[in-house]
Amino acid sequence: MNYLAPSILSADFCRLGEQIEEIGKAGAQYLHIDVMDGVFVPSISFGMPIVSSVRPKTDLFLDVHMMVTKPERYVEEFIKCGADSVTIHVEACDKVAETLRLIKSHGVKAGLAINPETPVETLLPYMEMVDMVLVMTVHPGFGGQKYIPECTDKIKEVRRLIEEKHLPVDLEIDGGVNLDNLQMNLDAGANVIVAGSAVFKNDITKNVKAFLGTLLLPQE
Ligand code: DX5
Ligand code: ZN
Repeated sequence: MNYLAPSILSADFCRLGEQIEEIGKAGAQYLHIDVMDGVFVPSISFGMPIVSSVRPKTDLFLDVHMMVTKPERYVEEFIKCGADSVTIHVEACDKVAETLRLIKSHGVKAGLAINPETPVETLLPYMEMVDMVLVMTVHPGFGGQKYIPECTDKIKEVRRLIEEKHLPVDLEIDGGVNLDNLQMNLDAGANVIVAGSAVFKNDITKNVKAFLGTLLLPQE
């Protein structure tokens, strides 16, 4: 199953509630929430209050992407605020297994993310513990960047790992995804598609429907 996860980093925060409602009505299934700490990535975005404000207003699956150093300090708070999944970066955490277990012990999904320069092998010890792998297709930190073409092979590699071991793991991609490179990424094996600027630029409903037009086609 494929899912669209619009990233609210590109939303108009004065109209956040309205725009989230529009995304849901147009048929997106996830809401991608980019938490940045100004240390792991250069920028600062937002934190728990956004998740707790959004939670009672939507049934969308709240997909929290923590670009945060030592994420283990905060995962439980994000879960309390209403996250449906919490994704941590392998580069940002020195207790990866423990933190994944902590996330799962609260009955929410656990994701593990890798940056463009991080080898796929880094994921190997954790593949049996995660519900989702997130392959970054830009350097994390900002919306609106260009897709890094070298990442397509990493998506293929992760998909191969998942298939080889018959694991029930989703493969999310994040950064620079648009209607022009969507099919190529689905062919490479991605099934959870984050899109920020490509959804929020101009007509949100039209953009979501265009993505879903491709995402919901039967794939081989
Ligand atoms: C980047 C964030 C992304 C970002 C994607 O660090 O993790 O989720 O919002 O934005 P686009 O789709 O515009 O590249
Ligand atoms: Zn993200």
